[in-house]
Amino acid sequence: MTGAAGGIGRELRERIKPWAETVRLADICDLGPARAGEEIFQCDLADREAVMKMVEGCDAILHFGGISVEDKFLPIMNANILGLHHLYEAVHRFGVKRVVYASSSHTVASTPPPSWSTPTCRCGRTVFMA
Ligand SMILES: NC(=O)c1ccc[n+]([C@@H]2O[C@H](COP(=O)([O-])OP(=O)(O)OC[C@H]3O[C@@H](n4cnc5c(N)ncnc54)[C@H](O)[C@@H]3O)[C@@H](O)[C@H]2O)c1
Repeated sequence: MTGAAGGIGRELRERIKPWAETVRLADICDLGPARAGEEIFQCDLADREAVMKMVEGCDAILHFGGISVEDKFLPIMNANILGLHHLYEAVHRFGVKRVVYASSSHTVASTPPPSWSTPTCRCGRTVFMA
């Protein structure tokens, strides 16, 4: 699970344990020590080789890592575009069968119909592209 230190990741950390023998928790931020049934993997999604190591051996991925609010373009691009590109490359290389990807209301937020498909912020535009 990427983004394991984030809001959704923290909520899911205990709940997903019954789903797997071992849960690999990844984030750019510190996740603290591994608990029973966990592996901790601290890495930047923009680091291709690190993402390859993070994904190798996984059966399924819950992808919540990235910039979820508005920010400057460079960190958003590194996490949300480059990071996702690395993740999908690794998924392809290692034959991971399932990826759950969280979209965002920012892809359409604050945009009334008929322009629902027009993201209103950099964060939303990158998630929309993904
Ligand atoms: N919270 C919601 O209600 C909600 C609803 C719909 C979709 N989403 C989407 O789900 C995802 C997770 O949401 P959240 O609320 O947990 O977000 P969050 O911002 O709390 O967590 C994102 C996590 O990603 C990590 N991260 C950021 N850049 C990184 C990088 N370069 N490399 C590795 N990790 C990095 C952060 O450290 C953070 O822990 C987001 O993409 C968000 O848009 C959230």
